[in-house]
Amino acid sequence: MNFKTQWFDRLPSTNTFLKERLELEPALSSGTIVAAREQTQGRGRREREWLTAANENLTFSLFLRTVSKPWKIPSATMAVAVAVSELLDAEGVKADLKWPNDVLVGGKKICGILSEAVSGGVIIGIGLNVNMGNAEHIDQPATSVLMESGERRSIDDLLEKLLPILSDRLGEWEQGGFSKVRKKWEQKVPTLGKTVKVRDGDAVRVGILCGFGDDGELLLEEQGVVSSVWAGDLEG
Ligand code: BTN
Repeated sequence: MNFKTQWFDRLPSTNTFLKERLELEPALSSGTIVAAREQTQGRGRREREWLTAANENLTFSLFLRTVSKPWKIPSATMAVAVAVSELLDAEGVKADLKWPNDVLVGGKKICGILSEAVSGGVIIGIGLNVNMGNAEHIDQPATSVLMESGERRSIDDLLEKLLPILSDRLGEWEQGGFSKVRKKWEQKVPTLGKTVKVRDGDAVRVGILCGFGDDGELLLEEQGVVSSVWAGDLEG
Protein backbone atom coordinates (compact mmCIF):
# COMPACT_ATOMS: atom_id res chain seq x y z
CA MET A 1 0.00 0.00 0.00
CA ASN A 2 1.32 3.47 -0.87
CA PHE A 3 0.90 6.00 1.90
CA LYS A 4 1.10 9.76 1.36
CA THR A 5 1.30 11.63 4.66
CA GLN A 6 0.58 15.29 5.26
CA TRP A 7 1.30 16.73 8.72
CA PHE A 8 -0.52 19.73 10.23
CA ASP A 9 0.43 21.60 13.40
CA ARG A 10 -3.19 21.83 14.49
CA LEU A 11 -6.55 20.61 13.18
CA PRO A 12 -10.01 20.38 14.73
CA SER A 13 -10.28 16.69 13.74
CA THR A 14 -8.18 14.72 11.26
CA ASN A 15 -11.23 12.56 10.39
CA THR A 16 -13.37 15.61 9.62
CA PHE A 17 -10.56 17.25 7.64
CA LEU A 18 -10.02 14.15 5.50
CA LYS A 19 -13.78 13.77 4.92
CA GLU A 20 -14.00 17.38 3.69
CA ARG A 21 -10.94 16.89 1.50
CA LEU A 22 -12.49 13.79 -0.07
CA GLU A 23 -15.63 15.75 -0.90
CA LEU A 24 -13.50 18.30 -2.79
CA GLU A 25 -11.27 15.63 -4.35
CA PRO A 26 -13.35 12.47 -4.94
CA ALA A 27 -10.44 10.73 -6.72
CA LEU A 28 -8.22 11.00 -3.63
CA SER A 29 -5.70 8.13 -3.52
CA SER A 30 -6.13 5.25 -1.17
CA GLY A 31 -3.45 5.54 1.51
CA THR A 32 -3.78 9.32 1.90
CA ILE A 33 -2.95 10.19 5.52
CA VAL A 34 -3.62 13.41 7.42
CA ALA A 35 -1.80 13.72 10.75
CA ALA A 36 -2.06 16.51 13.34
CA ARG A 37 0.33 17.48 16.13
CA GLU A 38 -2.61 18.95 18.02
CA GLN A 39 -6.31 18.15 17.67
CA THR A 40 -8.85 20.52 19.15
CA GLN A 41 -12.22 18.94 18.30
CA GLY A 42 -11.28 15.28 17.94
CA ARG A 43 -14.11 12.80 17.92
CA GLY A 44 -14.31 9.35 19.48
CA ARG A 45 -16.85 6.56 19.25
CA ARG A 46 -20.29 7.17 20.75
CA GLU A 47 -20.00 10.97 20.42
CA ARG A 48 -17.10 11.15 22.88
CA GLU A 49 -14.38 13.82 22.64
CA TRP A 50 -10.80 12.86 21.74
CA LEU A 51 -8.52 15.85 22.22
CA THR A 52 -4.76 15.85 21.72
CA ALA A 53 -2.47 18.43 23.29
CA ALA A 54 0.42 19.62 21.10
CA ASN A 55 2.97 16.89 20.30
CA GLU A 56 1.56 14.57 22.92
CA ASN A 57 -0.05 11.77 20.95
CA LEU A 58 -0.10 10.25 17.49
CA THR A 59 -3.29 11.50 15.88
CA PHE A 60 -4.01 10.72 12.26
CA SER A 61 -6.60 9.55 9.74
CA LEU A 62 -6.19 7.30 6.74
CA PHE A 63 -8.38 7.02 3.65
CA LEU A 64 -8.79 3.46 2.43
CA ARG A 65 -10.49 3.11 -0.94
CA THR A 66 -12.47 -0.12 -1.11
CA VAL A 67 -15.36 -1.70 -2.98
CA SER A 68 -16.00 -4.16 -0.14
CA LYS A 69 -19.56 -4.79 0.98
CA PRO A 70 -20.58 -2.36 3.79
CA TRP A 71 -20.73 -5.09 6.46
CA LYS A 72 -17.15 -6.14 5.69
CA ILE A 73 -15.64 -2.68 6.17
CA PRO A 74 -15.62 -2.50 10.03
CA SER A 75 -13.11 -5.36 10.09
CA ALA A 76 -10.57 -3.14 8.25
CA THR A 77 -10.52 -1.21 11.51
CA MET A 78 -9.71 -4.43 13.36
CA ALA A 79 -6.77 -5.00 10.97
CA VAL A 80 -5.55 -1.50 11.89
CA ALA A 81 -5.86 -2.31 15.61
CA VAL A 82 -3.72 -5.43 15.06
CA ALA A 83 -1.08 -3.27 13.34
CA VAL A 84 -1.01 -0.76 16.22
CA SER A 85 -0.69 -3.57 18.78
CA GLU A 86 2.22 -5.03 16.81
CA LEU A 87 3.94 -1.64 16.76
CA LEU A 88 3.53 -1.38 20.53
CA ASP A 89 4.90 -4.90 21.06
CA ALA A 90 7.95 -3.94 18.97
CA GLU A 91 8.37 -0.87 21.19
CA GLY A 92 8.40 -3.07 24.30
CA VAL A 93 4.85 -2.23 25.41
CA LYS A 94 2.75 -5.40 25.41
CA ALA A 95 -0.65 -4.64 23.97
CA ASP A 96 -3.97 -6.51 23.92
CA LEU A 97 -7.05 -6.05 21.75
CA LYS A 98 -10.63 -5.43 22.79
CA TRP A 99 -13.47 -5.80 20.28
CA PRO A 100 -14.44 -3.94 18.25
CA ASN A 101 -11.31 -1.84 17.93
CA ASP A 102 -9.56 -0.79 21.13
CA VAL A 103 -5.91 -1.38 21.92
CA LEU A 104 -5.23 -1.82 25.64
CA VAL A 105 -2.22 -2.23 27.88
CA GLY A 106 -2.89 -3.91 31.21
CA GLY A 107 -6.63 -3.29 30.75
CA LYS A 108 -6.15 0.45 30.09
CA LYS A 109 -6.87 2.04 26.74
CA ILE A 110 -3.80 3.22 24.83
CA CYS A 111 -5.33 3.62 21.36
CA GLY A 112 -8.80 4.36 20.03
CA ILE A 113 -9.89 3.99 16.43
CA LEU A 114 -12.85 5.68 14.77
CA SER A 115 -13.84 4.51 11.30
CA GLU A 116 -16.37 6.35 9.18
CA ALA A 117 -17.84 5.09 5.91
CA VAL A 118 -17.44 7.58 3.07
CA SER A 119 -18.14 7.51 -0.63
CA GLY A 120 -15.57 5.16 -2.18
CA GLY A 121 -14.32 3.64 1.04
CA VAL A 122 -13.62 4.35 4.67
CA ILE A 123 -11.76 6.89 6.78
CA ILE A 124 -9.96 5.29 9.69
CA GLY A 125 -8.90 7.68 12.45
CA ILE A 126 -6.28 6.55 14.95
CA GLY A 127 -5.43 8.13 18.29
CA LEU A 128 -2.43 6.50 19.99
CA ASN A 129 -1.44 7.87 23.39
CA VAL A 130 2.31 8.39 23.23
CA ASN A 131 3.72 11.16 25.45
CA MET A 132 0.66 11.77 27.64
CA GLY A 133 1.98 12.01 31.21
CA ASN A 134 -1.18 11.04 33.09
CA ALA A 135 -4.76 10.05 32.40
CA GLU A 136 -6.50 12.17 35.04
CA HIS A 137 -8.46 14.12 32.42
CA ILE A 138 -9.84 10.97 30.76
CA ASP A 139 -13.16 9.44 31.86
CA GLN A 140 -12.01 5.83 31.48
CA PRO A 141 -8.88 3.85 32.44
CA ALA A 142 -6.22 5.01 29.98
CA THR A 143 -2.47 4.86 29.54
CA SER A 144 0.28 5.94 27.15
CA VAL A 145 3.63 4.70 25.85
CA LEU A 146 5.32 7.15 28.24
CA MET A 147 3.30 5.93 31.22
CA GLU A 148 4.10 2.29 30.39
CA SER A 149 7.77 2.61 29.45
CA GLY A 150 8.90 5.75 31.24
CA GLU A 151 10.24 7.10 27.93
CA ARG A 152 9.04 9.85 25.60
CA ARG A 153 8.94 8.93 21.90
CA SER A 154 8.95 10.90 18.68
CA ILE A 155 5.44 10.73 17.21
CA ASP A 156 6.88 11.16 13.69
CA ASP A 157 9.14 8.12 14.19
CA LEU A 158 6.29 6.04 15.55
CA LEU A 159 4.15 6.83 12.51
CA GLU A 160 7.06 5.93 10.19
CA LYS A 161 7.46 2.60 12.00
CA LEU A 162 3.73 1.92 11.93
CA LEU A 163 3.26 2.42 8.17
CA PRO A 164 4.93 -0.80 6.94
CA ILE A 165 3.02 -2.83 9.54
CA LEU A 166 -0.23 -1.11 8.53
CA SER A 167 0.55 -1.84 4.91
CA ASP A 168 0.97 -5.56 5.69
CA ARG A 169 -2.19 -5.91 7.74
CA LEU A 170 -4.38 -3.82 5.40
CA GLY A 171 -2.88 -5.68 2.43
CA GLU A 172 -3.97 -8.95 4.01
CA TRP A 173 -7.42 -7.51 4.69
CA GLU A 174 -7.70 -6.32 1.07
CA GLN A 175 -6.77 -9.78 -0.22
CA GLY A 176 -8.92 -11.95 1.99
CA GLY A 177 -10.90 -9.86 4.45
CA PHE A 178 -10.85 -10.39 8.21
CA SER A 179 -10.15 -14.13 7.85
CA LYS A 180 -6.60 -13.21 6.83
CA VAL A 181 -5.91 -11.30 10.07
CA ARG A 182 -8.20 -13.27 12.40
CA LYS A 183 -5.41 -15.42 13.86
CA LYS A 184 -3.28 -12.37 14.70
CA TRP A 185 -6.32 -10.63 16.18
CA GLU A 186 -7.42 -13.62 18.30
CA GLN A 187 -3.91 -14.13 19.70
CA LYS A 188 -4.18 -10.72 21.33
CA VAL A 189 -7.63 -11.08 22.86
CA PRO A 190 -7.19 -12.11 26.52
CA THR A 191 -10.95 -12.65 27.00
CA LEU A 192 -11.19 -15.29 24.27
CA GLY A 193 -12.93 -18.38 25.75
CA LYS A 194 -14.00 -16.41 28.85
CA THR A 195 -17.36 -15.09 30.02
CA VAL A 196 -17.92 -11.54 28.80
CA LYS A 197 -20.63 -8.87 28.86
CA VAL A 198 -21.56 -7.15 25.60
CA ARG A 199 -23.53 -3.94 25.78
CA ASP A 200 -25.52 -2.66 22.82
CA GLY A 201 -27.39 0.45 23.93
CA ASP A 202 -29.41 -0.55 27.01
CA ALA A 203 -29.21 -4.27 26.28
CA VAL A 204 -26.49 -6.32 27.98
CA ARG A 205 -25.77 -9.91 26.91
CA VAL A 206 -23.61 -12.29 28.91
CA GLY A 207 -21.93 -15.32 27.35
CA ILE A 208 -18.67 -16.96 26.38
CA LEU A 209 -16.60 -15.15 23.80
CA CYS A 210 -15.91 -18.10 21.55
CA GLY A 211 -14.29 -16.33 18.60
CA PHE A 212 -14.79 -13.95 15.69
CA GLY A 213 -16.55 -14.57 12.38
CA ASP A 214 -15.34 -13.97 8.82
CA ASP A 215 -16.27 -10.28 8.98
CA GLY A 216 -15.00 -9.57 12.48
CA GLU A 217 -18.36 -10.12 14.19
CA LEU A 218 -18.11 -11.38 17.76
CA LEU A 219 -19.31 -14.96 18.34
CA LEU A 220 -21.09 -15.24 21.67
CA GLU A 221 -22.21 -18.51 23.22
CA GLU A 222 -25.27 -18.19 25.45
CA GLN A 223 -26.72 -21.41 26.98
CA GLY A 224 -24.90 -23.51 24.40
CA VAL A 225 -26.13 -21.47 21.41
CA VAL A 226 -23.62 -19.40 19.43
CA SER A 227 -24.80 -16.20 17.80
CA SER A 228 -23.14 -13.32 15.97
CA VAL A 229 -22.91 -9.88 17.55
CA TRP A 230 -22.29 -7.13 14.99
CA ALA A 231 -22.33 -4.03 17.20
CA GLY A 232 -21.75 -3.10 20.82
CA ASP A 233 -19.07 -2.70 23.43
CA LEU A 234 -17.39 -5.30 25.59
CA GLU A 235 -17.65 -4.41 29.25
CA GLY A 236 -15.08 -5.05 31.94
C1 BTN B 1 -12.55 5.94 20.39
O1 BTN B 1 -13.52 6.50 20.88
O2 BTN B 1 -11.99 5.02 20.97
C2 BTN B 1 -12.01 6.36 19.06
C3 BTN B 1 -11.09 7.53 19.14
C4 BTN B 1 -10.54 7.94 17.78
C5 BTN B 1 -9.71 9.19 17.86
C6 BTN B 1 -9.02 9.49 16.57
S1 BTN B 1 -7.75 10.70 16.75
C7 BTN B 1 -7.60 10.84 15.03
C8 BTN B 1 -8.99 10.76 14.45
N1 BTN B 1 -9.61 12.07 14.39
C9 BTN B 1 -10.69 12.15 15.17
O3 BTN B 1 -11.40 13.15 15.32
N2 BTN B 1 -10.87 10.99 15.83
C10 BTN B 1 -9.89 10.01 15.43
